[in-house]
Amino acid sequence: MNDEKTGILLLSHGSRLDDGEEVIKAYTDMYREEFPNASIEYGFMEIRKPGIPETINKLTEENDLDKIIVVPVFVAHGLHTKRDIPKLLGIESDYDEEDGHHHHHHDHGHDHHGHHHHHHDHDEEEFDFDGEIILTDPLGIDERLYGIIKDRISQNL
Ligand code: NI
Repeated sequence: MNDEKTGILLLSHGSRLDDGEEVIKAYTDMYREEFPNASIEYGFMEIRKPGIPETINKLTEENDLDKIIVVPVFVAHGLHTKRDIPKLLGIESDYDEEDGHHHHHHDHGHDHHGHHHHHHDHDEEEFDFDGEIILTDPLGIDERLYGIIKDRISQNL
């Protein structure tokens, strides 16, 4: 595993309240211990800074990266993970704006990655990264999450 050239972006939704940042920051610190050779940062897709471009710039300015793995720390897919985040990352998405439903492309091996030069028209920060950007699935259906939800219920029975 060559993780020295790998950046990891833990992507949270973003909120005006501080709670979400405290949580994602704590996880970031834990994954830094788990993957000590990788470069790991957290960022937010909207509302709160650092946003996606700032976070990618931070990762790439300090490190010579081949790829960045973006993990949306969301429970399920939604418009943000299917449409907004791929757009912000400048990568292909299987979301079709025109008819508003999803298409699945099976013509290439990896679903969500591509070479990327992202430029915004607005006053938002830009980034320019030649490496691979991999957008993973959100958390999804998993017994580990099941256990947490079960605990929240059991604690209050
Ligand atoms: Ni939102």
